[in-house]
Amino acid sequence: MNRYSYCFTTEIPDWLKPHKKILSDCFDQIDQPNTDKSYLKLIGDKLIWWDSELGDFEIDSFKPEKKPKILKGKSELLAKALEIKKSGDLVIDATVGLGKDSRFLIELGAKVVGCEKDPLVFLLLQSALQQADKKIQNSFELHFEDCQKFLAHFNPDGPFNIYLDPMFEGELGSAKPKKSMQVFRKLNLKGDLQILIDAALASRAKRVVVKQPLKSREHQYKVIHCYQGKSVRYDLLSR
Ligand SMILES: C[S@@+](CC[C@H](N)C(=O)[O-])C[C@H]1O[C@@H](n2cnc3c(N)ncnc32)[C@H](O)[C@@H]1O
Repeated sequence: MNRYSYCFTTEIPDWLKPHKKILSDCFDQIDQPNTDKSYLKLIGDKLIWWDSELGDFEIDSFKPEKKPKILKGKSELLAKALEIKKSGDLVIDATVGLGKDSRFLIELGAKVVGCEKDPLVFLLLQSALQQADKKIQNSFELHFEDCQKFLAHFNPDGPFNIYLDPMFEGELGSAKPKKSMQVFRKLNLKGDLQILIDAALASRAKRVVVKQPLKSREHQYKVIHCYQGKSVRYDLLSR
C-alpha cells in the first residue's frame, strides 16, 4: 500500500476525526511544508493534496457545477448496463477513484456503496463529500477497504449490482491527460482487473459490469452483452 505524508498547521476538522487512524497508519507527519515532497494539507476544513510537480489537487466530482448531464429521451448506457430502473437501486462502485462514476450513478437515481483501497484517495473523497449537497451525502456510503475483502462480507437484504472501473481516463486516448489523471498516474493506483472480477463474480450480485476502452480486447472474461458508447463500453459479465 502507498505511504504518504501530511502537514497540518491547523486543528483537524470534526469530520476528519473518525479517520485519524488512517492518518496514523498510512501517513507520516511532517512539521514544515517541504517543497521537494508531496503531502496532504488542510485549507480550512478541506483536504488538498500538494504534488511537488503538479501543485494543489482536490477531488471535485461532487461539486454542484460538476453535475453530469443525464440524457433525456434516450436511456443512459450505464443505467441500462447496471439495470438502474428506480430510485434507490443499489450499485456497488468497487473502484471509486475520483468518484465521477459514483456521482453519475447517484444522478441516475442509484444508491451507491463505494469502495476505495487507497488511503489518500479515500480521505480526499471524504473531504469532497463533506462539501457535497445532502442528496449526494444521503445516496452514497464510502468504505476504505479493498473491494475483494469488502465484497466477501457485504450481504445486504436486497439485490445489488457491481460496477468496476480499474482503468484511467487518460487511457481512453485523450491527447493531454487532465491534472487529476496525472496525479492518479503518479500515485500508481491501477487495480488488478482479474482479482476485481473474481471477487465481484463470487458475490451474489445480480450483474457485474466492467468499464473498458471501446477497442480493448485484452480480457479473459465472458461477456453477455457490450453496451457501447463513443469511447468506452460497459461489458456485462457472465458467470
Ligand atoms: C481508474 S480509478 C476509478 C475511476 C472512477 N471510476 C471515477 O469515475 O473516478 C481506479 C480506482 O480504484 C481503486 N482500486 C483499485 N483496485 C481496488 C480494489 N481492489 N479495491 C478498492 N479500490 C480499488 C484505485 O485506488 C483507484 O482509486
